[in-house]
Amino acid sequence: MDKIKFNIKREERNIEISFCNIEEIQKIIYARGYEGVCIITDETVYELYKGTMDDICEKISGSLIILEPGEKSKCMNTLGEIYSELNLRGIKRDDLIIAFGGGVIGDLTGFAASTYLRGIDLIQVPTTVLSQVDSSVGGKTAINLGNNKNRVGAFYQPQNVIIDIDVLNTLQKREFNNGCAEIIKYGCILDEILFDKIYDIGNLHDTRVIYKCKLEQIIRRCIELKIDVVQKDEKDIGIRNILNFGHTIGHVIEGIDDYEKFKHGEAVAIGMYLITKWSESKGYTVIGTAEKIKNILLKNNLPINIQGIDSEYAYRAIIKDKKASASGVKLILLKEIGECFIKHVPLEEISKMTEEIFV
Ligand SMILES: NC(=O)c1ccc[n+]([C@@H]2O[C@H](COP(=O)([O-])OP(=O)(O)OC[C@H]3O[C@@H](n4cnc5c(N)ncnc54)[C@H](O)[C@@H]3O)[C@@H](O)[C@H]2O)c1
Ligand SMILES: [Zn+2]
Repeated sequence: MDKIKFNIKREERNIEISFCNIEEIQKIIYARGYEGVCIITDETVYELYKGTMDDICEKISGSLIILEPGEKSKCMNTLGEIYSELNLRGIKRDDLIIAFGGGVIGDLTGFAASTYLRGIDLIQVPTTVLSQVDSSVGGKTAINLGNNKNRVGAFYQPQNVIIDIDVLNTLQKREFNNGCAEIIKYGCILDEILFDKIYDIGNLHDTRVIYKCKLEQIIRRCIELKIDVVQKDEKDIGIRNILNFGHTIGHVIEGIDDYEKFKHGEAVAIGMYLITKWSESKGYTVIGTAEKIKNILLKNNLPINIQGIDSEYAYRAIIKDKKASASGVKLILLKEIGECFIKHVPLEEISKMTEEIFV
């Protein structure tokens, strides 16, 4: 089993990322000596991987909580149900919770684990591209309050994250591509070689079987890049902000039609292209960078533009974002592919920016 170990300043232990087959979770649970285990998953993921989950439950006195798939489950009601179930099933302080699913399951289960009995051990088994390269690493957990995304949450690090790229083969193409937007983001902000590698492959989804090794290297590289940033700034008060490249505009787009129209990664894809086109026009970014981003996104069937967004609506949404302050917004811009910087932009300029972007 191939592992990356890292630590966070306030944690007195290593957090392990294991690249292995999901069947190997059992070995990890045995090695850590847990007596009780509760797996939290969603209906779709359970149907696909019930063999693995049932086997754990049988051999290690485990139980299952199976939730409805989708963002709507990331809410107070479901969280309350999880607490009740954990309590009813007698889950103790030294037992283990496993988050087995995409980012929704990871964020919700992570938050439940961080608060139930004031914190109980957690293993993340991310099963989407997005959750493998992004949400399962870094310790952010959260639930939504209505349409306010991630309003309640905690920083809570898992003991272990288990990455098995074979589980990505059952993902629907749109979900796969959605996660690729975050992969492309890492190339844009931190690693030109990674960007070029993805560019040369073309469509990551269609080549995932023949280029399995390359896909695994790409996912591993994204995780390494994220760990490096998180170790410098776990609580997201400085450098971790760069992971928000494309997200200021992305969040505006994601919010339309009550989050029904675009998935997170799709909205971020549009955000990365539009903000880079704008920053090129201001002279902050090397000319030609936006074109490269446009091409790599299109190769991965991701959207690059949207019609009909009102600039005033976009401005209001940006200043309401939890990252904005009264003096302005920290925009993440590229100097060129592989190199980014944080620019504090006053609100007047943000207002002009939205007029220029959403004409
Ligand atoms: N904590 C963080 O740092 C962080 C970072 C980015 C995003 N997020 C959060 O992640 C969430 C989105 O995560 P997501 O994109 O993984 O969505 P998701 O968890 O809703 O999963 C998408 C869909 O894919 C299905 N699925 C999952 N794994 C599958 C598999 N292997 N095969 C087939 N189907 C599968 C799920 O049932 C679901 O229907 C959002 O709530 C977002 O806020 C958190
Ligand atoms: Zn994101």
